[in-house]
Amino acid sequence: MTNQISEEIIEQVRTSNDIVDVIGEYIQLKKQGRNYFGLCPFHGEKTASFSVTQEKQIFHCFGCGKGGNVVTFVMEVEGYTFYEALQFLADRSGTELPEIVGQKQSSVSPENQQILSASEWVAKLYHHLLRFTKDGKKGYQYLKERGIADETIDVFQLGFAPEAKEFTASFLDKKGFHQQTLVKSGLLTQHEDNGVSDRFRGRVIFPIRNHLGKPIAFGGRTLTDQEPKYLNSPESELFQKGRILYNFDLAKKHIRKQNEAVLFEGYMDVISAYQAGVKNGVASLGTSLTDTQARLLKRYVDTVIVCYDADDAGNDATYKAAGILQKAGCDVKIANLRDKMDPDSFIMKFGGEAFQDEVIKSSLTFTSFYMRYLKKDFNLMLEGDRIQYIEKVLEHLAMLESSVEREYYLKELSSEYDISMESLIQQMQSHRNRRKIGPVKDNKRTSSHTNRAPEVGQKKLLPAFHNAERQLIAYMLQDPSITDKVQEEIGASFNLEEHKIIATHLYAFYEENHEADVSRFIEMLTDDRLKKLVTEIAMLSVHDEISDHEINDYIRIIRAEHHNKENIQSLKEEQKLAEQQNNPIKAAEIAMQIIEYQKQWKNIN
Ligand code: UTP
Ligand code: MN
Repeated sequence: MTNQISEEIIEQVRTSNDIVDVIGEYIQLKKQGRNYFGLCPFHGEKTASFSVTQEKQIFHCFGCGKGGNVVTFVMEVEGYTFYEALQFLADRSGTELPEIVGQKQSSVSPENQQILSASEWVAKLYHHLLRFTKDGKKGYQYLKERGIADETIDVFQLGFAPEAKEFTASFLDKKGFHQQTLVKSGLLTQHEDNGVSDRFRGRVIFPIRNHLGKPIAFGGRTLTDQEPKYLNSPESELFQKGRILYNFDLAKKHIRKQNEAVLFEGYMDVISAYQAGVKNGVASLGTSLTDTQARLLKRYVDTVIVCYDADDAGNDATYKAAGILQKAGCDVKIANLRDKMDPDSFIMKFGGEAFQDEVIKSSLTFTSFYMRYLKKDFNLMLEGDRIQYIEKVLEHLAMLESSVEREYYLKELSSEYDISMESLIQQMQSHRNRRKIGPVKDNKRTSSHTNRAPEVGQKKLLPAFHNAERQLIAYMLQDPSITDKVQEEIGASFNLEEHKIIATHLYAFYEENHEADVSRFIEMLTDDRLKKLVTEIAMLSVHDEISDHEINDYIRIIRAEHHNKENIQSLKEEQKLAEQQNNPIKAAEIAMQIIEYQKQWKNIN
C-alpha cells in the first residue's frame, strides 16, 4: 500500500485510455478535420460545440467552457474524485493501481469500504454457487425456466443464497469481516438471541451495482410465493434506492450511443430486455422515480422511453415518472406495451424481436399515451364526461411547443369526437392565452441558450495583447523550442495573471525534459481554472509551421503592453506623490497624461 500514486502510473493510465474512445462511450463523436465534435454532456445543447482532439488528448466545450484531459473528463461526467476516476480508467484498460491508504483519496469511509468488499465477495460466492454447485441448483433451474441464458446470468452476476443458516456468516467470518459491519450492511440478519443468519437464504440473488459496477446491495427473489417477492438490502449510506438505477453501469455505454434510455420497473425486465437486445435499459426498482434519477439520466440522454408494466398501477407510475423526467428536461416516450403485460412476460410470449419492433421502436409520444391514459377517469359514453375529457386534452395540447404536434392531435380529436377544428383550436387557444407561460419542454431550450457563451467573434472581443498571449501559449504548448525562446525574451512578463502562471509552469515542465504533451501538462496543474484555460488555449487552431516573424510579433505586442502597464503604473505613482505633496495641478496633469495614454493604447489595440 502507498499513500500516493506515482506520476508514471498516472501517465500509464492516461495513455492507455484514448480520450476519443472514452468520451465516445458517453456521446456520439463525429470527426471533422483533425478534431471530433459532439453534443456537450455538461450542458444542454442542440448544436455540437464540444470538441475532442486525439492528437493532444484533450477536450474542450466552446459552449460551457469545460475542458481537460481524459481524467478530468471522467471526474466531471461521473462526479468522481481524482483517485476514483483513475481507478475507473485503470479498470477500463486493465492497469493495476497500487492501493491507497487512508481516506484522503476516497470519498468512501473505511466501514463502507468493508461493506463494499464484503458485498463483492458475497456476489461472487452466490454467483458461483448458482452456476456450478448443487447448493445453487434450485436457483439455476428457476432462472432457466424463466429463459435466462448462462451468458446473461454471468453478465448480471445472478446468484443463489443457500438455505443453510450460517453459510454466508461463516464464509465472511473466514475472510475476516466483522459481524457487526455485515449486520449493518444487511447481508446478515441478527436475531434476538444474538445469533445471525443470512438475510437472503433460499433466494435468487440480483446484485445491485453502483455506477462503478461494484455490488452495493442485493435483491433476493423467492422461488416460492413467500412474501415479500423480492427482499432487498436495507437502505444505507452506500445504497440509496432513490439515487441508483439498476444496471446503469452496463447500460450507460449503450444509452450514450443510442442517445436513448429505456426505463423499466424491475430487475427481470432489464435482464429479459438485455437478452432481447435492448441493452440501454435501467430500472428504478419498483419505487417511484426520483428527481435525482431523472437528472442522472438527463446527463446522458435527451430521450427516455418509459417501459413500465401496462396495468393500471403501471400506467399511473408511468404518468408520474414521465412528469418527473420532463421536469428534468428529458423528452419522454412511452413504450407500446399493452394488455396488462410486463416487459418480461411480453418477451417470453412474443420474443425479443417483437419486443424491439413492436414495443420499443413503436413507442408512443407522451401526448398519445396521455390521451389514452386520461380516458380511465371518464365514461366517454356520457356527453358530459366526453366534454370534460376533451377539455383536459386541450389543456395539455395547449402546452406543446410544436404547432405541428398540436395540429396533429387536434385533428385526431376532431375526427374521433366529431368536433370542428375551429372550435377545438379556439378552445385550445384560450388555454394558451391563459397560461402565458411557455410549453413544458421549453425549459430545455432556454437553459441551453443562456448557458451558451458567445461562440462567434469571441476572439475579436479580446484586446490584441490578450490574443497574442493566448496564441503564443498555444504554440508553447506544442513546441519546447518556442517556449525556450519566449522564456529568454519575456520570461514571466505576460500581462494576464493566469497566463503568467501557465507560462511559468510550462517552463518548469520542459525543464524536466518532458516532451510537448498538453494532456500530461494539465495533469500537473492543480488549479481547475488553469486546467480549463490551458485546454481552451490548446484548442486554438495554430499552424504547424510558425514563422519567427509571427512569434516576434506576439512577443512585441506582449512587451509593449507590459511596458505600457509599467508606464501607467509609474505615472500613477507620480500622481500619488504629487497629491501627497499638495500639488493638485501637477497631479491633474499626470491624470490627463494617463487618460491620454490609455486612449492611445486602446486605439492601437
Ligand atoms: P414486480 O412485482 O413487477 O416484479 O416489481 P417483476 O419485476 O415483474 O418480477 P418477477 O417477474 O415477478 O420476478 C417490480 C420491481 O419492484 C421491486 C423489485 O425491484 C421488482 O423488480 N419489488 C417488487 C421489490 O423490491 N419488492 C417486492 O416485494 C416486489
Ligand atoms: Mn415480471
